[in-house]
Order: sequence, then C-alpha cells, then structure tokens
Amino acid sequence: MTKVSPKCYSTSPLPFMGQKSRFVRCFKDALKHFDSATVFVDLFGGSGLLSHVAKRERPDARVIYNDYDNFRERIENAGRTNALLADLRDIIGSVPQEKRLDTSLRETVLARVKEEDERGFVDYITLSSSLLFSMRYATNFDELRAITMYNNVRIATYNCDGYLDGLEIVKHDYKELHEQYKDRKGAVFFVDPPYLSTEVGVYKCYWKLADYLDVLRVLDGTSYILFTSNKSSLVELMAWISERFHVTNPLMTRYEKKHETM
Ligand SMILES: C[S@@+](CC[C@H](N)C(=O)[O-])C[C@H]1O[C@@H](n2cnc3c(N)ncnc32)[C@H](O)[C@@H]1O
Repeated sequence: MTKVSPKCYSTSPLPFMGQKSRFVRCFKDALKHFDSATVFVDLFGGSGLLSHVAKRERPDARVIYNDYDNFRERIENAGRTNALLADLRDIIGSVPQEKRLDTSLRETVLARVKEEDERGFVDYITLSSSLLFSMRYATNFDELRAITMYNNVRIATYNCDGYLDGLEIVKHDYKELHEQYKDRKGAVFFVDPPYLSTEVGVYKCYWKLADYLDVLRVLDGTSYILFTSNKSSLVELMAWISERFHVTNPLMTRYEKKHETM
C-alpha cells in the first residue's frame, strides 16, 4: 500500500481575518533556523495556520496551538456550515453573484440562519464571507440582521480534512501559555499578535499600544518568530527608544546583540 502524504494547507480552510497565508513561504524559511527546536508554541494561534505548517514541516516536534478564538469549533462544524450554505444557495437561487438581496429573500435567509442558530451552532464568520460585502463580518445573529446582504455564496464546499491533525490544542491568555513554556529547553514561540488598530474587529479583544508593548516582554531571553506590521510602526518605535535612552532593543536579533558592542 502506498503511503499518502498528509495535505499541507497554505491557507486557512475557513475564512479568518489576519491569517498569515501570504507569509507561509517566509515562515517555512524562518523555521529552518530552528532545527534543534523540540516544541513550537503558537501563542496567538488564530486560524492555526502557522501551527499547521509547522507540524507539516517538523512532524518530529510538538506543536502547541493556542486556539484563543475557538477556531477548532468552526473546523469541527464545517459539515454543518456546508449544509447551511447549500440551503442558502437554493434560497438565493438566480440572484447574480455580488448582487444585493431584496427584502423578501433576506428574510428567508435570516429565517434559515435563525433555525440553525437555535439548533446550537452557526459559523457567522464563514457565513459573512458568503452574504456580506467583502471585509464585513457579523459574529452573531443580531449583527447579521443589521447588515445589507449580497449573493457571495461560495460554489465550492469547505474542506478542512486533517487540518488540525497532530496539533496539541490549548486555550489560554498568551502570557499564561508563555509562562508554561518559557524555561523549556528547545521551545520556540510564534508571536503573531493582533495588529494595532487594524484587525481587531472580529476578535474578542481590543488591543491598545500598552498591550502590544507587553508582548515584547515575552520575547526577552526566548527563541521566537515574530510577525509585525509596518502599520504598527513598532520596529521604528523600538529603534528610537533604544537609541534615545541607550537601552537594548528587544527586537534586535541575537546576531545584532552579539555584535552591538564590537
Ligand atoms: C493576527 S491573529 C493571529 C493569526 C494567526 N497567526 C493565523 O495565521 O491565523 C492574532 C490572534 O490573537 C488572538 N488573541 C487576542 N488576544 C489574545 C490573548 N490575550 N492571548 C492569546 N491570543 C490572543 C486574536 O483573537 C487573534 O486570533
């Protein structure tokens, strides 16, 4: 019997704002710097994409996925989501793609969603990308009801098979999780916090500058791969503080630190 290699996803199988699909290639390159790592800890797991890629690249290592947003529940219910979307496709029928739904269709769609909600689970984020204007998201029924709807229902079904396989899934505040692993030999952290004032909309949190700066504390003395954005100006801010107050820049690489005094 031939062994089938597990599928490697380069994008999250369900919509997730802030997922790092555009950086998968650089991330794989960055992982190569940590050949001796034995445990990867994805502090801000989001869609789990970084954890998934790390496990596929390094099946020998433990990978801890911090599922702060309960994304696993969405993955486990992908079958229900596909069934709901199939019904919505039937309801919306002949409305052209990207066209607005009229009041009567809207009410029928909402009635079907409500029914599903009462049965216990609706993936409102996935539903949003099928019914709302791009980048608009509802996280519950009342929010969905308040927004204009369009026919963006995807033709293909969502397939999430094997996506979370091999991951150790936990749910903690990142500081607690960091505390658990910070002294573990061979531990490497993935640090991808919500960006300042960009993508906090769907997440269950609001990130201020102080929260963001707090994240830098977890970097000290540990091995990590950090994602940051030009929009946050964090790299520039840290360089300025370091120069102005003559303190070590926490974003400086080990190589730079070693050569700082030379
Ligand atoms: C930029 S996203 C991570 C995206 C992820 N790397 C991916 O590829 O899908 C940041 C995540 O951190 C989560 N988060 C917010 N506050 C947190 C906290 N205190 N501890 C852990 N995670 C948190 C957010 O809900 C969001 O899922």
